[in-house]
Amino acid sequence: MLTRTTAAGAPTADTAPLLKVRGLEAWYGESHVLHGIDFDVAPGEVVTLLGRNGAGKTTTLKSIMGVMNKRRGSVVLEGTETIALPSRAIARLGIGYVPEERGIYASLSVEENLLLPPQVRPGGLSLEQIFELFPNIKERLKSQGTKLSGGEQQMLAIGRILRTGAHLLLLDEPTEGLAPVIIEQIGRTIARLKREGFTIILVEQNFRFAATVADRHYVVEQGKVIDMIPNDELDANIDKLHGYLGV
Ligand SMILES: Nc1ncnc2c1ncn2[C@@H]1O[C@H](COP(=O)(O)OP(=O)(O)OP(=O)(O)O)[C@@H](O)[C@H]1O
Ligand SMILES: [Mg+2]
Repeated sequence: MLTRTTAAGAPTADTAPLLKVRGLEAWYGESHVLHGIDFDVAPGEVVTLLGRNGAGKTTTLKSIMGVMNKRRGSVVLEGTETIALPSRAIARLGIGYVPEERGIYASLSVEENLLLPPQVRPGGLSLEQIFELFPNIKERLKSQGTKLSGGEQQMLAIGRILRTGAHLLLLDEPTEGLAPVIIEQIGRTIARLKREGFTIILVEQNFRFAATVADRHYVVEQGKVIDMIPNDELDANIDKLHGYLGV
């Protein structure tokens, strides 16, 4: 059993959002790519950002994390406006980001990679709890980080942010390029983390996978959120979703 001191309850209709994003805009140099992103995430929820390539999903996560040079609008975490904060201060509020490229260092061992991010808040998982979630990691502690399989690297990347005390997790395409059996394991991990009270924003191209773990889906198109589909209404909206995603 994983126990966290800051576990949030399940979302209810009258729960204040854990994260409230309004009018979020972002630029790469002169290139304006987010044009007013709006969405909410309730405590303990798993939501996805779905959308075509280049829609702005990764940029939305980077903007929430404060790693874009230029962003504007409002990102409120548990009542704190973060839009003007540096990324370190945002991480200290308890947001953990697993980028699409996973960020595993080849020059470091698995163990060193795991211990790299600083603990930002109380309530992070212990190494034993992380090994319980990801037994493969424990067996490979002394290996070079990039000698792990793609799935193991993804587990290491998720495991190391769980140590930090982050309670809002931003996962960018955690299943990309992985075998079905590993995708299932990642899905079980996400479900477990949800039960433990973590709140998760998941960027996914694979909406069949997304449907197995998420409460709601936000559709991103050309730098805006254009629709929200509750997971239990996904089947009824499947044609519309295919249209959005061009599949
Ligand atoms: N480093 C960068 N410099 C300039 N433009 C960028 C950069 N990264 C992304 N873009 C552009 O910003 C827009 C949004 O990209 P983003 O990576 O957020 O999309 P995405 O929805 O995550 O796509 P994908 O599904 O392909 O990962 C795209 O037009 C992309 O070309
Ligand atoms: Mg992306």
